Amino acid sequence: MTLHTRPFGRTGWNVTDIGFGAWAIGGSWGDVNEAQAKDALRAALEAGINFIDTADVYGDGRSERIIREVLKDWDGPRPIVATKAGRRLSPHVADGYTRANLEGFVDRSLKNLGVEALDLVQLHCPPTEVYQRPEVFEALDGLVAAGKIRHYGVSVEKIEEALKAIEYPGVESIQIIYNIFRQRPAEVFFREAKNRKVAVIARVPLASGLLTGKLNRNSQFAADDHRNFNRHGAAFDVGETFSGVPYEVALEAVETIRPLLPVGTSMATFALRWILMADAVSVAIPGAKSRVQAQANAAASRLASLPPETMQALRSLYEQKIARHVHHRW
Ligand SMILES: NC(=O)c1ccc[n+]([C@@H]2O[C@H](COP(=O)([O-])OP(=O)(O)OC[C@H]3O[C@@H](n4cnc5c(N)ncnc54)[C@H](OP(=O)(O)O)[C@@H]3O)[C@@H](O)[C@H]2O)c1
Repeated sequence: MTLHTRPFGRTGWNVTDIGFGAWAIGGSWGDVNEAQAKDALRAALEAGINFIDTADVYGDGRSERIIREVLKDWDGPRPIVATKAGRRLSPHVADGYTRANLEGFVDRSLKNLGVEALDLVQLHCPPTEVYQRPEVFEALDGLVAAGKIRHYGVSVEKIEEALKAIEYPGVESIQIIYNIFRQRPAEVFFREAKNRKVAVIARVPLASGLLTGKLNRNSQFAADDHRNFNRHGAAFDVGETFSGVPYEVALEAVETIRPLLPVGTSMATFALRWILMADAVSVAIPGAKSRVQAQANAAASRLASLPPETMQALRSLYEQKIARHVHHRW
């Protein structure tokens, strides 16, 4: 199966429109054993995916190390591996975003991933103050000049942070939550990103699994799954868990989506296809814990466009049931 590709901002890369989110194969999603994790990633590569998103803190480096091991035995085309830095800081404060600290994080990721230079480093949802500190972006320019990183971008929580970040000429990508339950990025941010030729990475595309349609009121999550421990934002921004939509509200919304699915199409692939309707999006990065999930997600690349009446129905659903919970928060 050949996947569709899109240009990745100004980098010259063409990336598959469906990538692989490697958080769940690192940690914080319940038990995913090493064999399962590797199999999920291998399945994504076999399906033709050429973009992997990870971070130095996923499983404290486990995700990066699993990627290195899988790629060591992979003789197909080399995928782009995007990682992130900043969240190893403790406390996680703007003052920690120094050249020395960033270089230390980058050096560790180089080792974990077993490469000479990192393809793409993203600041990992830094404190808002960081966006007003040009010296942080100069430090990243310095790491590019030193040959340790090829490109850099920012993974943001809020649209206003994204708009600020892309004012820095070196920022080549923005990672942001964009899915059926998070439609605001399409309003102003996508236009600005396109104007500046900034790549957009759509994360949490399945709203942490809600937009697969498989969750219900009785779904249980392991103690080390963030859908258990971060449901109210105890560990990190609550918007990263179920996109910040209250669980019961989201379940009701999912039932409104179900009748819109074309016959034979799963809700997961449908939800991913919805994201790809926005041409500003370079790549959507669903997380997958198994071969079957990775294959199903890759298939979204080949789905037909969604008809205008379906897009309108999903817009109305957002406006009527979801927006009040998320629209002005992120
Ligand atoms: N701050 C940041 O920069 C940040 C934050 C969050 C995420 N991310 C990135 O974005 C990626 C994606 O977001 P996410 O992993 O949080 O959430 P997501 O992609 O919305 O949901 C992933 C979860 O949904 C379930 N799933 C995936 N594909 C499925 C399928 N085809 N059928 C049924 N269930 C399926 C799996 O969990 P179950 O099987 O257990 O339900 C999987 O772990 C991450 O892996 C990470 O790379 C970055």
